[in-house]
Amino acid sequence: MNSKTPPVLRPGKHAPGIHPVIAGRWSSRAIDAQKTVSPELLNRILEAGRWAPSSANNQPWRFMDFGPENAETLKLAKTTLAEGNIWAQPSPRLVFILARTDREDGKPHQLALYEAGQAVAQMALQAAHEGVVFHQMMGFSADQFRKLFSVPENFAIIVAVAIGWPGSSMEMIPENRRSLETSERMRKSMDELVFHNGEIPGK
Ligand SMILES: Cc1cc2nc3c(=O)[nH]c(=O)nc-3n(C[C@H](O)[C@H](O)[C@H](O)COP(=O)(O)O)c2cc1C
Repeated sequence: MNSKTPPVLRPGKHAPGIHPVIAGRWSSRAIDAQKTVSPELLNRILEAGRWAPSSANNQPWRFMDFGPENAETLKLAKTTLAEGNIWAQPSPRLVFILARTDREDGKPHQLALYEAGQAVAQMALQAAHEGVVFHQMMGFSADQFRKLFSVPENFAIIVAVAIGWPGSSMEMIPENRRSLETSERMRKSMDELVFHNGEIPGK
């Protein structure tokens, strides 16, 4: 198995003309446990999220950040990760993405998760630009996280994100996921995704 540090950007084969950071952003599972993310770098990633667009500039996203400066809470946050995300245990930082699901007037904000997703996409691109791993995970217990950190019910807890410098060890990556570090990144074809002038998606 490849023991070299994985490349920062890993574009799919057919990504013509799009920005190299968009083409090359990918979700590595090999994170260097020893190398911390500087506060300045973390701040740039969070800033990239902060500057996302949202309806009426509502900004429903919230970022709960955990790092080695408070090892106890980082450890606690890691207990919520699913077994399949064991590769994220060495990560020096975890950021949980939340969205406030009600508006100031108490009415539900239907687009809160959509808008939080936009913020995360911007963070992912900033991280790719900086050369750090930014790996989103749905595999964690939101219920457990809510209880541990007393998150109010009007905040959805959407994903956990492992952030850290690329590592070279495959040891923590489950065997069935190791090949994803080097195999070609795939996407559906444009034909399956794009429908022009009144064509309708078949599935
Ligand atoms: C919302 C979301 C949830 C994800 N959850 C997990 C997860 O729990 N565990 C994991 O290893 N990868 C997870 N991923 C990573 C995806 O598997 C990955 O983004 C996808 O296979 C495409 O690969 P790429 O990001 O390298 O292009 C998640 C990605 C997103 C956007």
